[in-house]
Amino acid sequence: MKPDIKTAKECLENWGFSEYSKAYIMTNEVLRLSVKNIPTKSDILTVAGSGDHPLFCLLREPKSVDTFDVSYNAKVIMDIKTSAIPKLPFAGYRNLLNGLYEEYDIKDIYELPEIIKTLPAEEQEYIEQINGKGFIRSDMTLFFSPYLFMQKKEYEQIRKRLHGPFNFIWTDITSLHAKLNKTYDFMHLSNIFDYMGIQKIIYVLSSLVPYVNNGGKIYFEYGMNSEPKPKNFHNFCSDVSNKYNQELKFRVKYDGNRKKCILQRTR
Ligand SMILES: C[S@@+](CC[C@H](N)C(=O)[O-])C[C@H]1O[C@@H](n2cnc3c(N)ncnc32)[C@H](O)[C@@H]1O
Repeated sequence: MKPDIKTAKECLENWGFSEYSKAYIMTNEVLRLSVKNIPTKSDILTVAGSGDHPLFCLLREPKSVDTFDVSYNAKVIMDIKTSAIPKLPFAGYRNLLNGLYEEYDIKDIYELPEIIKTLPAEEQEYIEQINGKGFIRSDMTLFFSPYLFMQKKEYEQIRKRLHGPFNFIWTDITSLHAKLNKTYDFMHLSNIFDYMGIQKIIYVLSSLVPYVNNGGKIYFEYGMNSEPKPKNFHNFCSDVSNKYNQELKFRVKYDGNRKKCILQRTR
């Protein structure tokens, strides 16, 4: 899983998701709400994103949390966070994220050398070479918004339950199934489907359903104006039920300008 720094530098010049696309420093989703759909003691698979997806999953006292992402930079920000959290009190963690957000030369961040020391050598080299260019600096007004950012109490719970880095699968979601070697109770796919047509979405869901435990769920969100309609997912559920010895139920909640969806395997 060694990153190629030359390819990364080229990819970072381009838009769109790729194996080195920029990663968010902090989530722009209200994760404390989406993780409420996860039963405790679950085996969870989640997109890595900014690392906040797997970290918020720890609030549900999971059995295990594995992560995947198309971008290596998602692994980098996630590993920085999982290395920092055991070392830093809440205020120090906020300072670190603020530094990552504000400093394009992240080597200037006081806490960073100590934090990256525990990462694999090739990841340390990657951070030194790519510096702060691997991160998206989105709307500062959202940054540290109390809706999005971890509260102190949540941070303490997460800190207690974090036992090292998360397992990371570096892959596009269309090939994810081929890299899985266990089944899960919950898959958090976030808003990846915003960027796909319905045929591809159905392909991805079909490939992942065999890795969902009986009673388990796949969670995803997409925009009101995106191509898929709830009837596409209802049709998908009846197709799966007819073809395989599995039954799926689909639920959607309309929330602001988002559709929040759960596919549940009921047999
Ligand atoms: C959909 S993005 C949006 C950011 C997100 N709202 C958050 O709060 O972090 C979340 C993550 O999905 C990853 N991603 C996008 N398309 C992907 C794909 N086809 N396969 C795997 N990961 C993908 C991105 O690299 C990013 O880290």
